[in-house]
Amino acid sequence: MAKTLALFNNKGGVSKTTTCFNLGWMLAERGHTVLMVDADPQCNLTGMVLDLSEAEALDNYYAEHPGANLMEALAPAFESRPVPLEPVECVQVEGRPGLYLVAGHVGLAEDEISLGIAQQLSESVQALKNLPGSFHHLFEITAAKYKADYVLVDLSPGLGSINQNLVATADYFIVPTSPDVFSVMAVDSLARVIPRWVGWARRAAELEALSSADYPFPTPDLKFLGVIVQRYRLRSGQPTVGFGKYFDRLKDAVTNRLNSALAKAGVMLADDAYQGAGLDEGIWLASIPDFNTLIADSQRNRKPVFALTQSDVERVGSVWDNTRPNIERFQATFNELAQRVEKLTGYGDETTGRI
Ligand SMILES: Nc1ncnc2c1ncn2[C@@H]1O[C@H](COP(=O)(O)OP(=O)(O)OP(=O)(O)O)[C@@H](O)[C@H]1O
Ligand SMILES: [Mg+2]
Repeated sequence: MAKTLALFNNKGGVSKTTTCFNLGWMLAERGHTVLMVDADPQCNLTGMVLDLSEAEALDNYYAEHPGANLMEALAPAFESRPVPLEPVECVQVEGRPGLYLVAGHVGLAEDEISLGIAQQLSESVQALKNLPGSFHHLFEITAAKYKADYVLVDLSPGLGSINQNLVATADYFIVPTSPDVFSVMAVDSLARVIPRWVGWARRAAELEALSSADYPFPTPDLKFLGVIVQRYRLRSGQPTVGFGKYFDRLKDAVTNRLNSALAKAGVMLADDAYQGAGLDEGIWLASIPDFNTLIADSQRNRKPVFALTQSDVERVGSVWDNTRPNIERFQATFNELAQRVEKLTGYGDETTGRI
């Protein structure tokens, strides 16, 4: 059975999508079959995978692959059509066997309204009872079709009904952050929101209307994998003073407020699981500095920074000699992140820590 991981932070621009793509690629490189789901109507993940340099490219993709995106795949449930959901036809990511994408669609934002109503009124409104369980069911049948080990779900920023649904019904979630004041505030808000969502999902799973739906709402079993801190600048191998200050404030918010709220809500793994996975300073699932100029090469080649080759970056001589160690450092960082995820989710030789 595939393990579903949601990448979530209500703050925008903290590398949710980039991390989804990079972690997905690395897990596939390490031999897993991975589905990435673009559940953000902004469709940035889809934009990283498909070549959208032509203005019409996305429209052409939808026209040539009817039904092959998250919104259309869910349409039978959202439009109450008398046909069952079918697995989504995924995009095979170029250059990385084993890595697939469930493409996004800007129209998914419209489903948010129906889902929101369904999640509040599902007991009383028969026609809506299939919606809350529909995403989970679709991921399950699609993962089964592709024999996936992992489903990575890239979410939009914000606290809407789709995020509520997809975080609460995932097996695990990761919080990408950057060391700034807004991420500290966002972590504090997650400490309040996640327990509320988990409480809602536990109650929803017990409603007769939802458990007897065509796509039953699953019993939630969410666990927190950790925080990723990303996009800071280094001086002599250490975060610069300005970023260091926010590292400390983030650390305080995570250890003193987020982790305790999540522990109370029953979504933390056992303490020794995090220790066993060797998190940086015992708290960061990964710490990833700014990609600097490599980000442009990564976007142009539609590859993670760590997978870039000399011909991808078009650099020679001493310029390449300076670039190569950077790429190798990112390779080591993402490899370590993927190994930690494997351990925490039960693929390594360590305990999964599920209690
Ligand atoms: N480590 C990094 N170094 C440099 N640039 C980065 C890094 N990580 C992400 N970026 C860039 O930062 C921007 C925001 O990243 P990304 O789209 O992954 O964030 P997001 O959290 O998914 O945003 P949104 O909330 O809008 O979905 C992108 O332009 C991305 O290329
Ligand atoms: Mg994004």
